[in-house]
Amino acid sequence: MKNIDPTTTEAWKKLSKQFQEIENREMKDLFLEDKDRAADLTLQWKDFYVDLSKNRITKDIQNSLVNLAEECGLKEAIEAQFGGEAINQTENRPVLHTALRAPENSEFFVEGENVIPEVNKAKSKIRKFSAEIISGATKGYTGMPFTDVVNIGIGGSDLGPVMVTKALEFYKNHLNLHYISNVDGDHVHEILKDLKPETTLFVIVSKTFTTQETLSNANTARDWFKKTAPVDAVSKHFVAVSSNISQVEEFGIDSNNIFPMWDWVGGRFSLWSAVGLSISLGVGYPQFEELLDGAHQMDQHFKNETFEKNIPVQIALLSIWYNNFFKAESEAVIPYTQYLQKLPSYLQQAIMESNGKSVDRNGKKVTYQTGNIIWGEPGTNSQHAFFQLIHQGTKLIPADFIGFKHSLFKDKDHHDKLMANYFAQTEALLMGKTSDEVKQELKDKHMPDSEIEKLLPFKTFDGNKPTTSLLLERLTPACLGKLVAMYEHKIFVQGVIWNIFSYDQWGVELGKQLASKILTEIDKPGIREHDTSTNNLLNFYLD
Ligand code: F6P
Repeated sequence: MKNIDPTTTEAWKKLSKQFQEIENREMKDLFLEDKDRAADLTLQWKDFYVDLSKNRITKDIQNSLVNLAEECGLKEAIEAQFGGEAINQTENRPVLHTALRAPENSEFFVEGENVIPEVNKAKSKIRKFSAEIISGATKGYTGMPFTDVVNIGIGGSDLGPVMVTKALEFYKNHLNLHYISNVDGDHVHEILKDLKPETTLFVIVSKTFTTQETLSNANTARDWFKKTAPVDAVSKHFVAVSSNISQVEEFGIDSNNIFPMWDWVGGRFSLWSAVGLSISLGVGYPQFEELLDGAHQMDQHFKNETFEKNIPVQIALLSIWYNNFFKAESEAVIPYTQYLQKLPSYLQQAIMESNGKSVDRNGKKVTYQTGNIIWGEPGTNSQHAFFQLIHQGTKLIPADFIGFKHSLFKDKDHHDKLMANYFAQTEALLMGKTSDEVKQELKDKHMPDSEIEKLLPFKTFDGNKPTTSLLLERLTPACLGKLVAMYEHKIFVQGVIWNIFSYDQWGVELGKQLASKILTEIDKPGIREHDTSTNNLLNFYLD
């Protein structure tokens, strides 16, 4: 990988000039000047229609952004990633979540060894296990089939599976899925209180099997289970997904019930592995495989398509454009489907844990902005919550609007209303409402001129707010796989250009270390050696 400060590139210099030229320009004028703008700035690929035209760019800016990617060595970086090089240099690991969704006969090498046979073996195990639990062939210790599956994990061992099972709820079978993540005892006990040990299966997911939250919750669940079940029943009701076999065995899980994880898969990119076991249990292995296949299709597109027509590359470049030139502080992701309600929180970990870095790949402090702040909620709920700020606030918030041509229950009346909002919002954000339009509207309502003058500034919308419209065919497992992989590749592209390491997460360590230290002090009265604020808080808590 090239380790270039992006601000020193020729493309960056050109983009700085182009920014000055476009900063005060209205997108609606750009549409008037160029009748082909919408078509020229739209990408179509399989069941994806991605309209970039409501962004504050021109074709020339798009070309400069592509030049930036080229100057920063994106092509080589993509090859290095897919080629199994240890691009996660601070942990000395390759990054090969793409191998998890590759066809059975593919080849992905880690230190000279093809990892695909191992991946295939894990997939067969997931397939067999899921089928036996779903069909009831594998039963609990009293001989009853399983009714409930509890995934215990946090971060990447929770957010991906939660997001996908919510997203694919339409395809779900009879198994009830539950997710316990927080170390808050109220979380685990709230979920356990309604479960029956004899029909509950626990899936403990932790790549490291050292995560405090997960181990505490797993211990609590096992204690709860053992209150009524015989000790030897634990092996029937507890399975684990981890790369730390010895720790899992020490916990008491049968070695046959351990599903593998590998160092070359980052936690937040792991839903495609056995970390997604709860997904496969909830919707069945064939649907899980469709999800993987969709992601693989996006991998191929990302790897082989020119940067000009490459969806993840283009959305990543736009995000850099707003972050580094317009100084946008955050980005919104607004799915127009309730099924994708967890997508924004999933993306928060994926994006912010990956690119929330301030040291470049040369070990130097960066002098430019990196990681985006991501937030969002499904439309139309978000319209009735925070859209006011997007429309008329002081901040520029580029937003992805994700909509579908077809709903799953095929309720045309509802879907047309939903999608009318999807189209209307991006149009409103683009066009705004001029004072002349407001005046006319109020005059038509016979409002007196003096009243109109008073209200005018408040009812005027500047518009010119950037949005990207992703209009997809239908929320199938494959389509979801493509969408999630698209965002994964977006993260990678941005990390390459910002010259940061996207696949480590040292920033979460300090808090973990301090929490362990404070935990040992909590029951000990006496001197506390923290800052005075923390000391006082601790004393107040313990009083
Ligand atoms: O929050 C830090 C982190 O390491 C994440 O990257 C990871 O997804 C999560 O903790 C859980 O880790 P594990 O799967 O090892 O329990």
